[in-house]
Formats: sequence, structure tokens, C-alpha cells
Amino acid sequence: MASEEFREQVRERSDLLEVISEHVALKQAGRHYKALCPFHSEKTPSFTVNPEAQVWKCWGCGLSGDVFAFVMKIENLTFPETLEKLAARAGIKRAASEGRDRSNDDRDRLLKLNAMAVQVYREAAKENPTAVEYLRERGLTHDLIERFQIGYAPPTWDYLINRLIRRGIDLAEAERAGLVAARQGRSGYYDRFRNRIILPICDALNRVVAFGGRAVDDAVPKYLNSPETPVFSKSRVLYGLNLARKSVTAQDRVVVVEGYFDVIAAHQAGIEQVVATLGTALTPEHLKVLRRYTQNAVLAYDADSAGMAAALRSIHLFEESGVRLKVARITEGEDPDSLIRKQGGAAFERIVEEGVPIVEYRLRAIARKHDLTTESGRTGLVREAIPALRQVVSDTDQERYLDRYIQFLLLLNPERAGERLTRMAEAIRREISQQIQRSSRGAKESAESFQNTRMISSAPSALARAENQLLQSAMESAERCQWLFGQIAPETFVDERKRAIADLLWQVAATGEKLETQSLADRLEPEARQLFIDFLSETGSVPLTEPELLDCIERLRHYWKRHDMKRLQELRQEIEAGRLSRDDPRFQEYWQLRLELQGSHTGR
Ligand code: UTP
Ligand code: MN
Repeated sequence: MASEEFREQVRERSDLLEVISEHVALKQAGRHYKALCPFHSEKTPSFTVNPEAQVWKCWGCGLSGDVFAFVMKIENLTFPETLEKLAARAGIKRAASEGRDRSNDDRDRLLKLNAMAVQVYREAAKENPTAVEYLRERGLTHDLIERFQIGYAPPTWDYLINRLIRRGIDLAEAERAGLVAARQGRSGYYDRFRNRIILPICDALNRVVAFGGRAVDDAVPKYLNSPETPVFSKSRVLYGLNLARKSVTAQDRVVVVEGYFDVIAAHQAGIEQVVATLGTALTPEHLKVLRRYTQNAVLAYDADSAGMAAALRSIHLFEESGVRLKVARITEGEDPDSLIRKQGGAAFERIVEEGVPIVEYRLRAIARKHDLTTESGRTGLVREAIPALRQVVSDTDQERYLDRYIQFLLLLNPERAGERLTRMAEAIRREISQQIQRSSRGAKESAESFQNTRMISSAPSALARAENQLLQSAMESAERCQWLFGQIAPETFVDERKRAIADLLWQVAATGEKLETQSLADRLEPEARQLFIDFLSETGSVPLTEPELLDCIERLRHYWKRHDMKRLQELRQEIEAGRLSRDDPRFQEYWQLRLELQGSHTGR
């Protein structure tokens, strides 16, 4: 395939010595070069580079590879990202005809359009008094505005549109990028972002994939974000990751905050290993992205935010991510932005430093609510603690957790030291053990029904079949694969494992790598790998035609549409019941969904 050629061309033009010396100080030693290994800490150099063979190896930690492997490792990039980065560095352009599929060209066009919009919004921010005043009031320095490419969308309905038209842009394309929306019942479009500070959202390669817009007055919603597009999946993208990457790797820790301005304030205080989720709860998907950089994450959300509550409900989903999740205790009523502005960066860093594991955080919060000196207090505690424990730990771990839990309880009540305390702890322990035994059966059932609420198992079989057929057809040939991902984004797959396989196939289609099943299988996590192998052994069935595949795709789209509509319904009820305040992120989610469902497609 032509793209193999491309890869070799990039390799040829990326001198290993040059690339490596951008990161480590190399010393010549005969025909080789030496340095302190950047991948493990050492005092004497065991990292060697062989410029003739264009390979490197560390005799200390055992890592080795070519120029791609080095960049992937040191920059924490995927292979396609690395390829792109080195190609850009060497000034190589990939010809449109050369093995690039339609979906990739499509993505490129959307990214270009976003970049254009950033320029328009940034210019506007410089000229517009409202924007200048807003940014000044929030104390943003010029340097910070530049670093985050902050812009402004003026209040008119066609500010961006006029400038896009002048640049010869097709507005239907701009709609797909989420920049403009089609008018209701009339032809034409209007600007999605109006009278808002624009915060460009970048991927790890600094490409603008979406926008957040902060109202400068009290417009609702306070923040308006881009809809999901072929280049933007909000449950996966983290704001600020492009700027945090280096620091996260260096510190081996990432701090996850809720707001755009929390990230910006942290940077202003010199704390760079900070990223934000985008008005959605923290998902296992986010952690998967972060795991490429570090296994230590600290959640710095407002203690009483909906986001914090959601995270605490999802602990069981995070447990498998391989990321150790701690929670920082932000002073009540503050967010990192306000905290840093009032108390300084050092205070924030100290709070992050003192973060506690999320399970412990949850248990402490439960214990604090009950008066353990009374019978009813203890019962209440037990009633709440058991499901919490059960959610996060296997049966065998429960005793261990129980012990630790009793420790927390003792810590929480230091003033009641002595014999009474020991007796109280004993009483609680007895109650908990009994409860565990008694509820053992019921819990198993509820665990099962919980499983069923997760998408994988609740997916109706027709949907599951459609997903299987799509994946199997994508595996038939490179052409099919490219065709398919020209139609849908990998995120559209509902089953997590299938989504992982789709993602991999999409990457392969995008880079034009060969479909080598063994190496593909190796790149999947165990569960997805098993499924992938099952698919392989099932080949030989009659291939589906394109119209049949389009039907399958329709089924997936339909699923998401129904999913979104159900969610919209839920949120509407909450709002009507007056349970959602204006600055609840779910309020924003509601508006976002409404906008998305009004359009003919939901962006997936
Ligand atoms: P907050 O409501 O806590 O706002 O939302 P904030 O970050 O403190 O914003 P400022 O300081 O008033 O400007 C936290 C995050 O939740 C998302 C945004 O990502 C925001 O940064 N959010 C909030 C929305 O997406 N939509 C909303 O309407 C509100
Ligand atoms: Mn704030």
C-alpha cells in the first residue's frame, strides 16, 4: 500500500541522531552515541544510539527501537500521531491520492476549518472591547491568552459566517464542524457561538478539534460547547492535554479539574499538569487516554459539584482503568480557579498533594454524615457503606477494606478515644460483616442488574449483530475498512470492546498500515482481543453489500438518537421539577442535546 511508502519516506527524512538529540544530551563514543536514558533514572549512561543502523537501545531498562519508537515513547503519542508529527517536522506532505481514505480527508478539512475559525475569533478578541474587558477582569495575561489561543465570538448571527464565505468555505462543511447551525424552517445558517469567549479545545497534537464558548453576559447556557463531530468526542477529549502533556509525564501525575478556567488559572500559577473534562462526568475513556501519560490522577472537582457526585457513583468503572485515582479536597464553595486566585498556586498544590484514594474519600464522606455514638447512626452508616464497599471491591477484598474502614472511623472520632471507641468499632464491624453475609445474595442480583444497565449487555441483539457485521466487513479488506470509516466514526460503536476494535481498524485505515491480524490483535486489551479473534475465526460468511452495511450503520445511529432522546427526556423532567440549578452541568447538557437533536444528525 502506498502509505507504507509514506512511512518509509518519513523514516528516511527523520535522522535518528537529530531527533534524539532534541530530547537528550548525546555524547559520541566511537561509532555510537551515549546518553543518560530518558526512560528510566540512572547515574551512568546506558542509553546508546547507533546512527548507521538508525536504532537505539538502553542496556539499563532494555527499551529499544527505531525513530518512531523513540518519539512514540518520549512524547507519549500513538503511531499515527508520531507519523504525522515526524512528517510535519520533515516537511513531508502526503498526497491526497496516496492511500488516504475519505474519512481522513474529511477530518483534515474539519480541522483546517477549525483552525480558520480560531484565527477569526482571536482577531475579534483583540479588537472587541467587551472581550478585552472580560479577559482583563478575569486577570488573564497576554501570554496566557496566546498560549490558550483564546478568542471571542461577537454577538451578531453571521460574524463567522461572513468571514468563512469570504474565504470560500462551504457552510454545510462548517455545520459539520459544529461552527454554524442550520436555520429552522428557512434556508441558510447562523453562527453557533455568539457573544462568547472562545476556548479552543485541542487534541494531543495541538490541533483544534472543538470549541468551548463562555457567555460574557448571563446567557444560558453559561458554557456552550461544540457538538460531537468526526474530530471531537467529548467523553474522550480533555481540555489542556496538549499543554499539560510534558509536565504530566515529568511529574508522573495529572490533575483533573472541571472547568476551562481552572486549567487556565493553574497554568497562570505555573502548575501545568492540569486538564479538564468538558462538562461531562469523568469517564473510563478519559482515564484510558490519561494512562498513556501517567498512572496517577488526582481529581480536583468542587466537593459538592454534580461532577464529583457522578465520579463517586462511577468508582467501580474506574477500578479497571489501571489509573490510581485520588481526590483532592477543594475547600467548599471554591473551584481551583477561585482557590488559586485567593490563596495562590502553592495552596492548590498542597491540596492536590494531600489527595486521598477515591474509595477512601467516599467512605469518609459517608462516615461523616452519621453519628456513630448512636445505634441508628451506626445502622445508617452500615446501610450506606455496604453498597459502596461492594461496588468497588471483590468479595475477597471486603474484609481487608472493612479493616481499613474501621481505621478511618477511628481517625474520624479522635475525641472519643479509649475503650468506648474500640467497642464501637467492634459493633460496627459486626454489623457490617452480618450485613455482608445477609445481603450477599441480594447484592449478587443487584450487581447483575447493574451489569445489565451497562451498554454492552443491554444492547439489543439486533444492534449487537449490526456491530459485528460492520466490523467483520471492515476486516475483509483495506478498501472496505476505509469505506466504512468514511461513513461512521469509531466512537459510534456501542459495545466498548467493539469500539476498541473499530478504533484500531480506523487507525489502520488512516495510516494505511497493512491489516496484519497478529500485530493488530496484540494492540488490543484482552477482552477486545478475544472478540477480535472470534471474528477472525468466523470469516467465510457471505460478505454484505454496501446498502446492507448502510442499514447496519443506520441501526447504530438510531440507537444513539434514542439514547440521546431518552436522556433529554430525563433532563427535561429534572428541570421541570426544579431540581437543576442553572449552573448544574446537566443544565448545559440539556441545551446541548436539544441543539443536537434539532439538527438532522447528532454528529455521530
Ligand atoms: P462551572 O459552572 O463550575 O463553571 O462549570 P466554572 O468553570 O467555574 O466557570 P466560570 O468560572 O464561572 O467561568 C465547570 C465546567 O462545566 C462545564 C464547563 O466545561 C465548565 O468549565 N459547563 C458548565 C458546561 O459545559 N456548560 C455549562 O453551562 C456550565
Ligand atoms: Mn469558576
